[in-house]
Amino acid sequence: MRSHYCTDLSEVNVGENVVLTGWANNSRDHGGIVFIDLRDKTGLIQLTCDPEHNVAAHKVANEVRDEFVLIAKGVVRARGEGLVNPRLKTGAIEIMVTELVIENKSAPVPFVIGDKNVGEETRLRYRYLELRDPDMYETFRLRSKAAIAARNILDANGFLEVETPILTKSTPEGARDYLVPSRVHSGEFYALPQSPQLFKQLLMVGGFDRYFQIAKCFRDEDLRADRQPEFTQIDVEMSFCDQEDVMKIAEELLVAMFGACGVDIKPPFNRITYKNAMEWYGSDKPDLRYDLKMVDVIDIFARCDNEIFTNIAKKTHTNRIKALKVPGADLIFSKREMKTFEDYVRKFGAQGLGYFQMKEDGLKGPLVKFFTEEDIALIIERTELEVGDVVFFGAGEKKTVMDYMGRLRIFIAEHERMNLVDKDAYEFVWVVDFPMFEVEDGRVKALHHPFTQPKDTDKDDVEEIESIAYDIVLNGTELGGGSIRIHKQEMQEEIFKLLGIDEEEAKEKFGFLLDALKFGAPPHGGFAIGFDRLMMLISKKSSIRDVIAFPKTQKASCILTKAPSPVDATQLKDLHIRLRDQVKA
Ligand code: AMO
Repeated sequence: MRSHYCTDLSEVNVGENVVLTGWANNSRDHGGIVFIDLRDKTGLIQLTCDPEHNVAAHKVANEVRDEFVLIAKGVVRARGEGLVNPRLKTGAIEIMVTELVIENKSAPVPFVIGDKNVGEETRLRYRYLELRDPDMYETFRLRSKAAIAARNILDANGFLEVETPILTKSTPEGARDYLVPSRVHSGEFYALPQSPQLFKQLLMVGGFDRYFQIAKCFRDEDLRADRQPEFTQIDVEMSFCDQEDVMKIAEELLVAMFGACGVDIKPPFNRITYKNAMEWYGSDKPDLRYDLKMVDVIDIFARCDNEIFTNIAKKTHTNRIKALKVPGADLIFSKREMKTFEDYVRKFGAQGLGYFQMKEDGLKGPLVKFFTEEDIALIIERTELEVGDVVFFGAGEKKTVMDYMGRLRIFIAEHERMNLVDKDAYEFVWVVDFPMFEVEDGRVKALHHPFTQPKDTDKDDVEEIESIAYDIVLNGTELGGGSIRIHKQEMQEEIFKLLGIDEEEAKEKFGFLLDALKFGAPPHGGFAIGFDRLMMLISKKSSIRDVIAFPKTQKASCILTKAPSPVDATQLKDLHIRLRDQVKA
């Protein structure tokens, strides 16, 4: 129906006859002339309906209300001197309308399109109206470009796109499953995949060599700004490869996807071991847009004159005393604000937060008196203190200290008066050499997933066993992760044993995988990138919901369709399900 999109037009089109289609963003009557801002997915343009120019079009224009659907014919004209609107891409021109058709009316809309101050509940209920905002369209245009770039680069590298089942068996990625009851098999359930992990491994056993999928994954877990119950991964697997091969493909993929969104990134990305990430930044997903690196001072505190610290310092295996230098902080924060930092870390298990200030006349602070002059000099040297700096100390059990000091690092960097975060930077880092297991409440769990290849299993302490697993982190967000997998059945069985999964359970849950590993499984590995997270970071949105067309709320519901919702009794009966309330009745 149209000859152009609204923002295709500019001063070079002056004098041309055009046909435009879209929605009335707003209309106003100025001295008998009706001006309508017509909106399509690209943006706005002004329609001018002047009765002296065309009586019929002007008459129709008088009936136009917000969000009416219009087809407008007219001539492109340059706006007069002083009438140019610099806020509009098409602000230098207007369309002198010769024919205007109201293709459809609209009820009064619940919010003005593009108004960012509307509550989320209303925006999601009328998501299709929110999507009319050309800014929204731009986000999804980038998403589409990135997906196409991913397909193209993987295709060029010999990867085959394969779809794996949605109605399947549980895949252990650490979250709860979404279950689907079977009608045919009474009392039995499918699980929606938390990832295509096991199927992609089976494709490697099937000799496909290189696989990818833009895959929907489902996880019933607590939702946050960067988590949805239903999300998309760019999922990749390859055979006869080592960690370097996989990382190279992942980097090429990211370059292509960012490039498609107009962002130039330069691999190879930095690497850091999991151990160093934890010791230096207190996190396995460090934000490296700023420095703030922690150093160990447990040996110095071991010699101090304060029993609390010397006792902590006795257990170097399980405890830590960490120093975090913040350049210039003494000149920025008052004593009262320092106290707010202490209150902050207490929320995460800190007993307190010591600090020194580097003044012109030396190191100051309540703890100074416990140290000899030599040790004070050593602290200054190790933390590279300069006048105006503050150094914070966290002491106690290692995991707790690293966690709250890591959080303090972020809290301070993002503090509006420190402002250390370069919002335009894309700082990638590979975190490598993840431990294979973690022990939680006495139970051994796989840190990545149980199909990851351990470096060796000959360690007395299972927590010391490292794996060939890697995460890609961008600006402090875990963007993706992967590993080299176990391809020998005996090793897979051994790992299940270490995880406390007995033979019977292993057979029942993963028998098909163990069987497949018996029949000549090639060495293989891969990774998955969280596509929604990636788009959230590229388009600089604060919530993953902004890059998903029809997202769920924090409570995992779809307000638009009202899902989840009750179902009728016959449907339940077909599925052999009786609800508890009905049982009582
Ligand atoms: P993992 O569980 O680390 O690995 O997931 C890979 C990436 O998927 C994204 N992601 C999510 N995004 C939005 N909402 C969620 N609820 C959510 N959960 C995860 C993250 C994450 O880094 N099968 C392995 C990959 C492999 O080993 O090849 C896996 O799924 O960005």
